[in-house]
Amino acid sequence: MKRFLALVLALLCLALCFAGCTAAKDDKANDESTEATEAEGEGSKPKPVLKMATNAYFQPYEFYKDGKIVGIDAEIAAAIAEYLGYELVIEDMEFDTIITAVKAGSVDFGMAGMTITEDRLLEVDFSNSYATGVQSVIVKADSAITKVDDLFADGATYKAGVQQGTTGDIYATGDLGESRVTPYNNANNAVLALIGGDVDCVIIDNEPAKALVAANSGLKILDTSYADEDYAICIKKGNTELLGKINEAIVALTKDGTIDAIVAKYIPAN
Ligand code: ARG
Repeated sequence: MKRFLALVLALLCLALCFAGCTAAKDDKANDESTEATEAEGEGSKPKPVLKMATNAYFQPYEFYKDGKIVGIDAEIAAAIAEYLGYELVIEDMEFDTIITAVKAGSVDFGMAGMTITEDRLLEVDFSNSYATGVQSVIVKADSAITKVDDLFADGATYKAGVQQGTTGDIYATGDLGESRVTPYNNANNAVLALIGGDVDCVIIDNEPAKALVAANSGLKILDTSYADEDYAICIKKGNTELLGKINEAIVALTKDGTIDAIVAKYIPAN
């Protein structure tokens, strides 16, 4: 009888062990199938983030619409991110902190209608240029300043408002001297200073100048321009991998007409 009991017990153990093993195997199978589903769902995985720094008071390149940053740069950057498989995140900051942020690596790139200059090239790398710009001069409609040269005439004391750290600021400070140039944190504030009579003109890129003149009555843009420039994306020095990818995207998006279409959407041909 004892023997019989021992046999029953042994069989029971065996049965239990077998059931356990099977269950464990099933669990594993379940695990594997979860993995497989995850692998199949690759496309739905969150994309890696590409962080862009800009200064969003620069219509039509970057500006707020319904609480969102839109514009030529915002859309080209979104197209580049999409092409490269990234999710774009835009961070708005003062223009003259963009290069610092790029150098520190707190953002991946800067895109802000930023002109390629020799001095900036010492600090960051630039992508291929994706647009051109022109420095223009905004004055009051009845201003005594009728051409750019009036600013530089002997004995002229006209004061210029600029956006801090921009090429308008750099060129005007070089040509007129610091005492005749007042930097503002953004273009809107420079224009308010012009309207208020604190400065006699505002030196700024042509397209934002047009948008500012359209938004404020009693202002005009001088026919003669101040300087021609190329806009590009700035990237931390040495990040050749990202630079290469962004340039590849710019070439492809130029070739297929995407960049032209975005520019035309914001700057309709006259
Ligand atoms: N093109 C000029 C520069 O690079 C002005 C750019 C200002 N851009 C801006 N988003 N506020 O200095």
